[in-house]
Amino acid sequence: LNYLTPKSRQEVLDLLVTGLKRLEYRGYDSTGVAIDSLDNKDIVMVKRTGKVKVLEDAIKEHFSGGEYSEPVLTHMGIAHTRWATHGVPCERNSHPQRSDEGNSFVVVHNGIITNYNDVKTFLSKKGYEFESETDTEVFAKLVHHLWKKHPNYSFRELVEQAIQQVEGAFAIAVKSKHFPGECVASRRSSPLLVGIKTKTRLATDHIPILYGKELRPHGQTRELPVLPRSDSTSEFMPEQKEVEYFFASDASAVIEHTNRVIYLEDDDVAAVRNGILSIHRLKKSLDDPHAREITTLKMEIQQIMKGNYEYFMQKEIFEQPDSVVNTMRGRVRFDGQSIVLGGIKDYIPEIKRCRRLMLIGCGTSYHSAVATRQLLEELTELPVMVELASDFLDRNTPIFRDDVCFFISQSGETADTLMALRYCKQRGALIVGITNTVGSSICRESHCGVHINAGPEIGVASTKAYTSQFISLVMFALVMSEDRLSLQQRRLEILQGLSKLAEQIREVLKLDNKVRELAKDLYQHKSLLIMGRGYNFATCLEGALKVKELTYMHSEGIMAGELKHGPLALVDDSMPVLMIVLRDPVYVKCMNALQQVTSRKGCPIIICEEGDEETKTFSSRHLEIPRTVDCLQGILTVIPMQLLSYHIAVLRGCDVDCPRNLAKSVTVE
Ligand code: G6P
Repeated sequence: LNYLTPKSRQEVLDLLVTGLKRLEYRGYDSTGVAIDSLDNKDIVMVKRTGKVKVLEDAIKEHFSGGEYSEPVLTHMGIAHTRWATHGVPCERNSHPQRSDEGNSFVVVHNGIITNYNDVKTFLSKKGYEFESETDTEVFAKLVHHLWKKHPNYSFRELVEQAIQQVEGAFAIAVKSKHFPGECVASRRSSPLLVGIKTKTRLATDHIPILYGKELRPHGQTRELPVLPRSDSTSEFMPEQKEVEYFFASDASAVIEHTNRVIYLEDDDVAAVRNGILSIHRLKKSLDDPHAREITTLKMEIQQIMKGNYEYFMQKEIFEQPDSVVNTMRGRVRFDGQSIVLGGIKDYIPEIKRCRRLMLIGCGTSYHSAVATRQLLEELTELPVMVELASDFLDRNTPIFRDDVCFFISQSGETADTLMALRYCKQRGALIVGITNTVGSSICRESHCGVHINAGPEIGVASTKAYTSQFISLVMFALVMSEDRLSLQQRRLEILQGLSKLAEQIREVLKLDNKVRELAKDLYQHKSLLIMGRGYNFATCLEGALKVKELTYMHSEGIMAGELKHGPLALVDDSMPVLMIVLRDPVYVKCMNALQQVTSRKGCPIIICEEGDEETKTFSSRHLEIPRTVDCLQGILTVIPMQLLSYHIAVLRGCDVDCPRNLAKSVTVE
């Protein structure tokens, strides 16, 4: 940071801690921060196990001296909130990781270095002793080793050399006591952006890339070859020197400072030195651009604040009347009954000629594929496969050039989904991204796609992204069937359903108090079975996932058609069962399942349609939702499930936004 106005070290620390708080939803089992010491000759680190609040208190204790309030003009710090992949959550394993006891080089890292064992063996032979079980520590020590070997290299060149030796996924930021006030950052397969804050608007929208001579293939860790140094000596100099730079893995950490950001690409090395940012790559290939674009984020700080809500998840559930409209905004013309998906429209003829549609995702995103599969089959008349990304990869699923593969991901960064995307792309399939995060890896690596525009989702348990993914896929099905005469009546009915959706979601949200009462009856139970079929089976899976991840209660989404084949054995008078029974084509079959449950002394709670007196008589308690077209019911039935899991979690004293052991964006396999 080269400050616009002088800042105290305390302010630098506050800024880092606030940034961590904004990112806490991505992972939160331990935290740490590193800044220059008062004389700039050392690095001071504070690390803690637990949430950012614990670190914040520790920082207050550690930096209580008056010197920390003295203003400085240039200062640099790095901070990290960790979600353990290698090594248990503890201070030793939390980041920043260091090269040596003297903190020569300290590193924060997201992702996973897959060849860390090889690098570790190499460095151990050179006399390095490792203090943590992390893959990250090898990176800090590798940079240190290179620095000893090449004392005249710049900081950026050292990092540039080091990233050639590591494999896997990373977004790293490195700081060194030998290069005070400097920061070098790089990424491969994990997101990283640079925020730029200046007093007046920058006169440029681009930062030129400086290329070196040669990029060696990865994986040559054993002999650690010395690569040719970058031949670029000039550095990019913005017109103004008073500038603050922010490296972050997610825009939410920087948005309160600036909305001007550069999304770094794989193997970019970005360095900040004396208030100057430069972006380097070792080698230029034919289609590489000359510059990285500075983009303007549309996100507002209010969007990532809780407002009057207790939890982000609660806020996000209640935002759904607006978020579903935002997903359709500018795309659905209810009057002319037409739909335009700008990010995909040029590819529609190609998609119509395809062999099959594959919908691939993880967790909640996968459930949105399950929820819309039937409609896609009906309106596209194509075979539709829905796949969990991890299983899809495990099976080495055959993929063909005439397949169209959809990758559904709120974050756009989920490692399994991203790898499945690359797998399909290599095999020549058309790649369609359905994401909520502009600039994310999935977004950038897709041929075309749909931004679901649900707004930032912070709560780890996905809610509004699900309903917006659902609607995006419905809109796609409608686009695909635009010229099918026989389907026009059906399309009209769905369009009318979409036009009323926001209002109907508002109605469903009014059930909040009733759902809270229901949660009071359920929260002390060990298990909850959620049953349904047809269009509502996805709600059962998604409802059970919400209950599991938020409340740590066992819950299972059961396909009612499978009841007799096993789950019925679980039913007795003490097992809570929730059933979705709506007046749709599977109503009679659902009633059949309901009777099987009641005849085993089960007392099901029912989600039914408003005014359905007959169905209600079979339930102990019920929740009534407005009637909509069958293929959109899942949007209305999932909301009571979101509310129920939320209230049970609150009653059980669970941390709603940060459930244990889970992270918002799983960027490791
Ligand atoms: C994690 C989150 C889930 C999410 C899943 C897929 O498990 O906790 O809420 O559904 O990842 O994430 P994506 O960003 O790809 O939708």
